[in-house]
Amino acid sequence: MAIQSVRGMHDLFGDDLAKWHAAESRIRRVFTEFGYGEIRTPALERLEVFKETVGEDTDIVQKQMFLVSDPAIEALLDSLKRGEREASKIDTALSDLARVGERYVLRPEGTAAFIRAVIQHQLHRQPHAQRYYYYLPMYRYERPQKGRLRQFHQFGAELINDPSPEADAEVIVLLDHLYRSFDLKEYEIRVNNVGCPGCRPKYREALRDYFRPRLKELCPQCQERFERAPLRVLDCKNEDCQRIASAAPIGLDYLCGNCRSHHQGLKTALTLGGVQFQEDPRIVRGLDYYSRTAFEFVSTLLGAQSALVGGGRYDGLAERFGEKPIPSVGFALGMERLMLALDAKGTLAFDKPRPSYYFAPLGNAAFERLFPLSLELKRRGVWTEIGYERGKGLKAMLKQADRAGALYAVILGDDEIGRSVAVLRNMQKGAQEELPLEALDDQLFRRIHRAV
Ligand code: HAM
Repeated sequence: MAIQSVRGMHDLFGDDLAKWHAAESRIRRVFTEFGYGEIRTPALERLEVFKETVGEDTDIVQKQMFLVSDPAIEALLDSLKRGEREASKIDTALSDLARVGERYVLRPEGTAAFIRAVIQHQLHRQPHAQRYYYYLPMYRYERPQKGRLRQFHQFGAELINDPSPEADAEVIVLLDHLYRSFDLKEYEIRVNNVGCPGCRPKYREALRDYFRPRLKELCPQCQERFERAPLRVLDCKNEDCQRIASAAPIGLDYLCGNCRSHHQGLKTALTLGGVQFQEDPRIVRGLDYYSRTAFEFVSTLLGAQSALVGGGRYDGLAERFGEKPIPSVGFALGMERLMLALDAKGTLAFDKPRPSYYFAPLGNAAFERLFPLSLELKRRGVWTEIGYERGKGLKAMLKQADRAGALYAVILGDDEIGRSVAVLRNMQKGAQEELPLEALDDQLFRRIHRAV
């Protein structure tokens, strides 16, 4: 079988890509209108950027990271395999290993990489809020299914330096506005407050107390992690875990005073922002860095992988990089899931780019007239096409023009040259007219620019 792309990673082209372009430019526009500027971080990061930030007990860190080793490590392994035992070579190898004592990982998510960049470039050392967005491919070693890929694309937005609940509401309002601008209404906004390092331990303890007598009924993974990460049981997809979790203590009942008033502030701000939402205590998110607000937009158009977008507040993430806390809130939306939802609705209008003119020269003399003309029009910004094979009949060339989706065909043969005209054929209507050969490029240029 011919060589295939890696499982869970797809090529994108043709009409599908044209739809993506239409969606991408709308999303970029909305981000810009809300004051978010773009940031791009590298695809490869050091392993520790994600390991203790996203969380040791999360699926991402435990089993979903694509690790990339440093070529120096490969060279060392190679020389050990070849049995090079000379002391000097081992010394060199060991010092190489000390130098590259880390491993790299293909970015599984954007937020930890973003905060790494913020700290590296001191972007938080500004007196006011900063707003950034990114549009980047992410890599997770997951079992591929509809809406779940190993390479997928996220548009993310992050707002730093603002601890207020209104900042949380702002990013949710942005998203709601964005989806509605696509005429997409089939989703629910689910918000929760997962507490802070002050109040969460009490809630964790309550969860452990609740799950302990029911431990045997939980899935093996939850049995294993319930001591370290009892909140994870709440969003386990296993049916038994879900049934048991449905009667578990509710996090909102364990919030400290500050978290409670933050949550109240968020609800008030969302209501003022005209956004409908639901409080959902099961939204705990699969990443460790959240504090206080956590939210998801869940859509009925998507099937099992129903989260269009996930996000929340992560003030403490910077501390895991050894910095002071940086008040931060944000989200990431999956492009593939947005496109699935839009395809299910069939509402996304997109422009398929098409050539304005297809040149059909009948014979060499005609080719030598039309070839420079087609290049000149391209230089002036008019998409033209011309067949380079000589000796094709008119019928074949018109078929090609049709297949290319050209608006017009320009037909030229010896007879037309003798009369100093060219034939312009409207490909949709089939109507033909003759244009003087003199200054044909200007006439063709004006026709398109008047039409646009
Ligand atoms: P996340 O919930 O892991 O959060 O991912 C956010 C969104 O990315 C999901 O809601 C989904 O639309 C999409 N997504 C995730 N995994 C896949 C996959 N395997 N295939 C296709 N789409 C997927 C984060 O990544 C956080 N960094 C969000 C964030 C930003 N929180 C604060 N700021």
